[in-house]
Amino acid sequence: MGSLIDRFGRRFPYLRLSVIEACNYHCSYCLPKGYQAVPGRPKNLDIDEIARLLGAFATLGMQKVRLTGGEPSLRRDLTDIIRVAVNTTGVEKVAVTTNGCLLQKRIRDWCDAGLTALNVSVDSLDRDCFKKITGHDQLNSILAGVETALESNLLSVKLNAVLLRDLNDAQLPVWLDYLRDRRISLRFIELMQTGDNLDYFHQHHLRAEILEQQLEQSGWRLLPRAADAGPAREYGHADYRGRIGIIAPYSRDFCAGCNRLRVTSAGDLRLCLFGQIGIPLRNLLQCDDQQAELLATIAKQLGLKQAGHGLHMGDTGLTPHLASIGG
Ligand code: GTP
Ligand code: 5AD
Repeated sequence: MGSLIDRFGRRFPYLRLSVIEACNYHCSYCLPKGYQAVPGRPKNLDIDEIARLLGAFATLGMQKVRLTGGEPSLRRDLTDIIRVAVNTTGVEKVAVTTNGCLLQKRIRDWCDAGLTALNVSVDSLDRDCFKKITGHDQLNSILAGVETALESNLLSVKLNAVLLRDLNDAQLPVWLDYLRDRRISLRFIELMQTGDNLDYFHQHHLRAEILEQQLEQSGWRLLPRAADAGPAREYGHADYRGRIGIIAPYSRDFCAGCNRLRVTSAGDLRLCLFGQIGIPLRNLLQCDDQQAELLATIAKQLGLKQAGHGLHMGDTGLTPHLASIGG
């Protein structure tokens, strides 16, 4: 059974599952005051609920799952969750996106559990700049964790840097040095407007096209898109082991390449990163007998996915901060 296809012919072999809403960083573009728990907020899905959820999506054709947060490593059972995902029939790739706070301590366990890919948020290689953006002085230990990850058998290691005007937009040369001999894909992500960062967005948003021009002038070339590629445009250069991807959600063709669905830490299905609608699935994750109803609900809801997020048409999207959805 494989029916994760929408009415526009897009396939969704990729699920992003947030396993926790909380994050311990206060990145200036995401949670500048830190994570504030809302009283009465539903609990995170437990590992049995996650196993049923992943089983259902895999039955429908999901092949890749990315565990996100908040900060997923704050969950003590993250290694067990990775193992559950790895052991789900049909799942071929299991990835984690982390701020790196526990990377050095945990990466070997995650790899032993079967992790195949890792994305780490590193907004700057400059210690002061990193601290200014994230509120933490942990750059060195995060980079040490990245080195350990590179020595492991992971299929891919990516770093994410949110591009911020007047904060980290003049650091391309340092990044290029770093990428020369490392098998890393660096992603520059255009700052996304969320319901609670409007002033910040206007102050720091920068079109990623500016960076693409700089790359092209330095001999970087756009790589052909892989069939299963997500929304990033990837560049390569013969003199560098690393690659550079650009994630530009406000560019016009962005949603045509959408290949992913999302489930929040409380078990709500989200058809798009932007927008407010979450379809509760938790009530269908309580016992194995509910699987048929769960499959039917997911398939029916996918039929409602829109062609695009509409952001370049003036729609603000009004998504809450990305920590609640997992990016
Ligand atoms: P992989 O292709 O699995 O490596 O995923 P990724 O690069 O999208 O994963 P990651 O979790 O590292 O996310 C990087 C950034 O891309 C985050 O800021 C996400 O919010 C953003 N992003 C990921 N998917 C989408 C999407 O569908 N739409 C938009 N607008 N942004 C996305
Ligand atoms: N715009 C762009 N990227 C964001 N992230 C979090 N909030 C935003 C935003 N407003 C990124 C983080 C992390 C990824 C999962 O999401 O930096 O790398």
